[in-house]
Amino acid sequence: MKDTKKIAVIGLGYVGLPLARLFSTRFPVVGFDINSARVKELMSGMDSTLEVEDKVLQASLKNENSDDKGLYCSADLDDIKDCNYYIITVPTPVDKNNRPDLTPLYKSSETVAKVLSKGDIVVYESTVYPGVTEDECVPVLEKFSGLKFNEDFFVGYSPERINPGDKEHTVEKILKVTAGSTPEIGEQVNNLYAEVITAGTHLAPTIKVAEAAKVIENSQRDINIAFVNELAKIFNMMGIDTQDVLEAAGTKWNFLPFKPGLVGGHCIGVDPYYLAQKAQEIGYHPEIILAGRRMNDSMGQYVASELVKLMLQNDIKVKASKILILGITFKENCPDVRNTKVVDVIKSLKEYGVDITIFDPLANPAEVKHEYGLNTVKDLPNGKFDAILLTVAHREFLELDLEDLKQPNSVVYDVKGVLGDKCDKKL
Ligand SMILES: NC(=O)c1ccc[n+]([C@@H]2O[C@H](COP(=O)([O-])OP(=O)(O)OC[C@H]3O[C@@H](n4cnc5c(N)ncnc54)[C@H](O)[C@@H]3O)[C@@H](O)[C@H]2O)c1
Repeated sequence: MKDTKKIAVIGLGYVGLPLARLFSTRFPVVGFDINSARVKELMSGMDSTLEVEDKVLQASLKNENSDDKGLYCSADLDDIKDCNYYIITVPTPVDKNNRPDLTPLYKSSETVAKVLSKGDIVVYESTVYPGVTEDECVPVLEKFSGLKFNEDFFVGYSPERINPGDKEHTVEKILKVTAGSTPEIGEQVNNLYAEVITAGTHLAPTIKVAEAAKVIENSQRDINIAFVNELAKIFNMMGIDTQDVLEAAGTKWNFLPFKPGLVGGHCIGVDPYYLAQKAQEIGYHPEIILAGRRMNDSMGQYVASELVKLMLQNDIKVKASKILILGITFKENCPDVRNTKVVDVIKSLKEYGVDITIFDPLANPAEVKHEYGLNTVKDLPNGKFDAILLTVAHREFLELDLEDLKQPNSVVYDVKGVLGDKCDKKL
């Protein structure tokens, strides 16, 4: 391997771009993506995911692929061939049957294999089940490079823990788990990340340990949220305010502060299926993990039925009623609409023949139309609504004057519990 480090980051999405930008403060970095529109957007100094501020991105960009520190983005394989570290940050989705779809990992491994040289290290960051790096990706690297694993090239794994939309816990401020295919490579990968991660690093003993650690972090969140979602269903039947209960219980030092809600996106709602699939493959049927998934996936329909109940209690004729939905993204302050569970609420509400307006200042209307066939508006609509349903706690919604949007008997339902006394009911 060359003495100087040159890093390629493969996949410039929510995870890849902030990481590439961070590494570019110390090393020459080439950001590679098969989506040439994304590459063009980034080279023009604009990040539509809003994860890297435009002025920060612009300051890190260099206009050509050179060995100077800085970031150059490209969709051309030639531009990454002289790198010696390849960090793969491509999506790891599930298919329509909730089974892991490793296609982007296979494809990106094939891409990297074509430019791999002796001594290079390929680090995977995508969330996977234990074994994917060594048992699934390494054979692809060997096949398409003609090189031998742990002799000619090496691999590492370092799971990403960023939280899109969160400007406080940015990539360098989150402790990073690292691992390598040999103890020496583990040290080397760990040292690489330690150069830029100010929060520090944790070198795990093996790649499988690091893979398992990431997938259980998200599975643990999923199960905990499922538990409070179940509590919300029970307490709603009893006329007890769940948020009040959680606040009271939260005064105990070891009570975990989870809130009920819709679990969407491509991490917490997806990663447990990766673990469950692997468990089933080796002959263990996971009960708790899948029960959590079932509970969380039922919440869209539940929210819709709760809203309709509230409308009927307020003498609102449900059929043809006007409902304003605040938020379509999968989480607050983030434009990401992938796997958003707000669409489950909308689907259930539509069965009642209601007239829905979706307002989301962050979601891209063309993307929502393309993904879900739904119309959204980016500006607050005029008019009065029979019901207002807050589904996402975007900052903009906290300041809204809802009175202007209401009729005398309108109802406000707050899934996120952020509207205080502006709402009639919370999840
Ligand atoms: N977004 C998060 O909050 C988050 C947090 C932690 C971990 N992760 C994990 O990180 C991984 C990436 O997630 P993301 O949210 O950044 O995804 P993303 O969809 O935002 O970005 C992935 C990028 O990879 C590109 N890509 C796909 N296939 C490619 C290929 N073969 N070669 C080159 N580029 C390719 C896409 O064009 C896209 O720009 C996933 O495994 C995810 O589970 C995500």
